[in-house]
Amino acid sequence: MNETFALSHLSPVWSRGSDLIAVRGEGAYLYDPDGIAYLDFTTGIGVTNTGHAHPRVVAAIREQAGKLLHGQANIAWHPPLLALVEELRQIVPPRLDGFFFSNSGAEAVEGALKLARMATGRPNVIVFQGGFHGRTIGTMSLTTSKTIYRAGYQPLMPGVFIAPYPYAYRFGWEPEQTSTWCLEEFEFLLNTQTAPYETAAVLVEPVLGEGGYVVPPQGFLKGLRQICDQHGILLILDEVQSGFGRTGKWFAFEHFGIQPDIMTVAKGLASGMPLSSVIAPLSLMEKWTPGSHGGTYGGNAVSAAAAVATIQTIRDEELLENACLRGAQLMDGLRCLQEKHPQLGDVRGLGLMVGCEFRDHNFRPDKNSAKAVVQACFEDHLMLLTCGPWDNTVRWIPPLIVSAGQIQQALEIFGNALHTAAEV
Ligand SMILES: Cc1ncc(COP(=O)(O)O)c(C=O)c1O
Repeated sequence: MNETFALSHLSPVWSRGSDLIAVRGEGAYLYDPDGIAYLDFTTGIGVTNTGHAHPRVVAAIREQAGKLLHGQANIAWHPPLLALVEELRQIVPPRLDGFFFSNSGAEAVEGALKLARMATGRPNVIVFQGGFHGRTIGTMSLTTSKTIYRAGYQPLMPGVFIAPYPYAYRFGWEPEQTSTWCLEEFEFLLNTQTAPYETAAVLVEPVLGEGGYVVPPQGFLKGLRQICDQHGILLILDEVQSGFGRTGKWFAFEHFGIQPDIMTVAKGLASGMPLSSVIAPLSLMEKWTPGSHGGTYGGNAVSAAAAVATIQTIRDEELLENACLRGAQLMDGLRCLQEKHPQLGDVRGLGLMVGCEFRDHNFRPDKNSAKAVVQACFEDHLMLLTCGPWDNTVRWIPPLIVSAGQIQQALEIFGNALHTAAEV
């Protein structure tokens, strides 16, 4: 294989985290062609929650591939899809008893919005500053985490209104004060721009992902839930990045004592096979005209088998508990480093969805330091990503199977990188 030739023909539209060619993945590691191991704390952007090539997931994929690759949901049901519904029923709130399957997160969000519009007969949707929901024309219109996702593609889909997300650290306010202000601004939007009777849904990430790994204050989602109930507006929670154990619970909303009307999931659902779902009460889905939504590959047999094995593995190996323990270890370690390195302005997160935001001594977003540290970590074989509107937040998304030793090793590499960056 002529790698240089092939690489020169790949579209440059893919932004590059590294030029690593990964020939193999196992657990928390990716391996390059020379067999060199990289501790992968990117998990393919929050996807391989059970680790790379978990034996149980691989076995399920192999077995299903030998029986049926593709049944097509309009034509024939298949056992993995039915088994997946049974598994999901055990981990989502009983009220959310209807399931539609597609392939990617963006498709699930588009599906949720189509469902909300059709079920309510209302046109508009409210989203939040810093939200990321995908890259199709529809989901790009709902995404405000960085201008790069929108620039050059405008005009986008109309009927989208944007409210502030309670990013307390950015505002420099107390968390609950920020939450109260954001809820007031949300109600102001309903009074001034999109009337409740025109508003089908509110779409929100329970923990902001691409927008900077921001955990909302406790009262915020409860407040949103109340306003939605008051006006018959559907609350859609986008759990594409925060779901499937990432925050130490099956779904991030469980930390906040609320439930959604519609939920979107993808990424961690199938450990790397493409699969996503719109989950909502069947009574709502019954208002979705049959045939008005669908897709060739949604609910693919091999992906569904991988998802069943993923859910069983997370449960049987007690990976939610591990995410809580290892997340606490990671946060403690980062907070210790923060004391020595003031450029680590904020350390925040839930479970193994942890971000540390770099700011300079004038509180300006410090992308350069964040990028330099991530690069130095890569040279030491630890893979990390950045996120946030200024790309100045390093995000930690190790697999849920990560060990105490691997977290310790990653903290040491990160600590060394911080030292080096401080000396430059
Ligand atoms: C919260 C959230 N929603 C939607 C998406 C889009 O998912 P996909 O890239 O699978 O279309 C992402 C991807 O990062 C995401 O983080």
